[in-house]
Amino acid sequence: MNRSPNTFWHQATISRDDREKQNGHAGAIVWFTGLSGSGKSTLAHAVELELHEMGCRTLVLDGDNVRHALCGDLGFSEQDRTENIRRIGQVARLFVDAGVIVLTAFISPFRVDRQRVRMMVERENDFVEVYCDCPLKVCEQRDIKGLYQRARKGEIEEFTGISSPYETPQNADLIVRTADRGVEECVQEVMEFLARRGLISLPGRNGD
Ligand code: ADX
Repeated sequence: MNRSPNTFWHQATISRDDREKQNGHAGAIVWFTGLSGSGKSTLAHAVELELHEMGCRTLVLDGDNVRHALCGDLGFSEQDRTENIRRIGQVARLFVDAGVIVLTAFISPFRVDRQRVRMMVERENDFVEVYCDCPLKVCEQRDIKGLYQRARKGEIEEFTGISSPYETPQNADLIVRTADRGVEECVQEVMEFLARRGLISLPGRNGD
């Protein structure tokens, strides 16, 4: 609900097209979704590095980091996760308007929330959903942050995959099987997909 009446939209002087022309590429959201420990952040940062080295303007929005500030007032109830994703979606959208390729790494467990972000953007190609497909068993074995073990002991409530649901994407643009492949291979899969979408062009390849 909007609680800001009597406000007026000010049309920007510089358009998204102007900014994209200056940047040399289109803005977009590359939305990584998956369980905690499925490789979202690793992949987002590794893809960002490749893009950055190609001269693209990029930004990573990462769940754990964003929850330190912008979303520090939110917990892990369904309602709070929905609000988390809504805020991130809006922030990411602003960066798309700035012609930036935003890579987001949030569990974003609910289909409806991810779909809502897809609907926020202007053009169909602005939103790329990448599902980091990694079985719970593998995430739990890795348990990099030690959170699964604590969740199993009941020390952390509403933990995704243990005591809170994760809704597997049904219409992901790309599925990356992070359990079976190394980081570099996963990065290449994402880069090739972005090239096929026409967002970037890879040297020596026509993007098909
Ligand atoms: S989301 O569900 O709202 O998208 P988000 O990606 O921002 O989650 O945050 C997930 C991160 O918070 C996890 O990687 C983990 O480090 C931490 N975390 C702490 N408590 C929980 C919990 N109950 N469920 C899932 N992740 C949690």
